[in-house]
Amino acid sequence: DSADQFRFTHIPHPAPVSAARRTELLANPGFGRVFTDHMAVVRYKEGQGWHNPTIEARAPIALDPAAAVLHYAQEIFEGMKAYRAADGGVVMFRPDANARRFRQSAERMAMAEVPDVLFLEAVRELVRVDRDWIPSGESASLYLRPFMIASEAFLGVKPSSEYLFIVIASPVGAYFSGGAVSVWVSEDYTRAAPGGTGAAKCGGNYAASLLAQREAKAQNCDQVLFLDAAEHRWIEEMGGMNIFFVMKDGTLVTPPLGGTILPGITRDALLTLARDKGLTVREERYSIEQCYEDAASGRLVEAFACGTAAVVTSIGRFRGHRGEIVIGAGNGADPVTEGLRDALIGIQRGQRPDPYGWVQRV
Ligand code: PLP
Ligand code: COI
Repeated sequence: DSADQFRFTHIPHPAPVSAARRTELLANPGFGRVFTDHMAVVRYKEGQGWHNPTIEARAPIALDPAAAVLHYAQEIFEGMKAYRAADGGVVMFRPDANARRFRQSAERMAMAEVPDVLFLEAVRELVRVDRDWIPSGESASLYLRPFMIASEAFLGVKPSSEYLFIVIASPVGAYFSGGAVSVWVSEDYTRAAPGGTGAAKCGGNYAASLLAQREAKAQNCDQVLFLDAAEHRWIEEMGGMNIFFVMKDGTLVTPPLGGTILPGITRDALLTLARDKGLTVREERYSIEQCYEDAASGRLVEAFACGTAAVVTSIGRFRGHRGEIVIGAGNGADPVTEGLRDALIGIQRGQRPDPYGWVQRV
């Protein structure tokens, strides 16, 4: 496949947002509420393949009420960011990894696979046309949301024969408002079971997490932490991010990928950065009782959440049926976490050398 195969038709926007209004919106965008002018849309039909790639005005989409996604939830998405680099250029972080994971999610959900070149071209074309929407603040970026829905109008339960692949973009600030987050340990609900869809980035996983996330909020916590479905013991991941622990001897621990958690691209990058900093890194199971014990004994000194939206965010405390424990300083002043965050952000924003080839110019 080559990018030439998928040349996007640009349909002029009839009424883009004015420069003055855009500046206003970019000053304080929050997360996921402000959107750019355009979207990328590509259609798929069995026998016809992917066709009609367009960049057009962002607008509501028409769907038949019998469209499969509305009934059987055949839907997947990605989350990635574009940054304004110091030299004024635009960069993205490991977009090829998002393209690959999108294909893997599609495979799990029995959906048509978007070729990597098409995925990357759609994202790049949208970033180029909406480049004035990339905010330039410290922790600001343009969040990109590629997603795919099953659009065939048919109520029989089977993989859809038609799909819509769409990319929208949203200028964003920090996902969390600052300091350390608090985490609610969900003992009543699980996110994913072995053989299930936990490793796929499908909307259903997030729908399944919402009641537990609501419980977290009711407990005054920012995020929910899920345990494994079989034993309700092993720490897996949070509602929308992976988790790491830092031990007193400098060792980093994170749950292994085993099909029930999302293989985070931030997680993967941090494992590499930590190893190259000379830290010992262990991808191994860590139980919630051990976590409480280690926090009490002082062996566990830091914990953090990581993901595209959250970047690297200190966890200040865990709360759950076992009570509440404070981790480290409890306020985000965590040196190992901070070192990893700075190393990651520096590369992502094109401020530090990138020996890994992770950063791509748009
Ligand atoms: N786990 C879940 C459930 C997520 O939603 C995310 C966010 O995308 C992550 C982990 C982190 O993945 P990544 O680092 O690729 O953004
Ligand atoms: C992301 O970090 O991209 C996520 O998916 C987390 C959440 C905003 C859904």
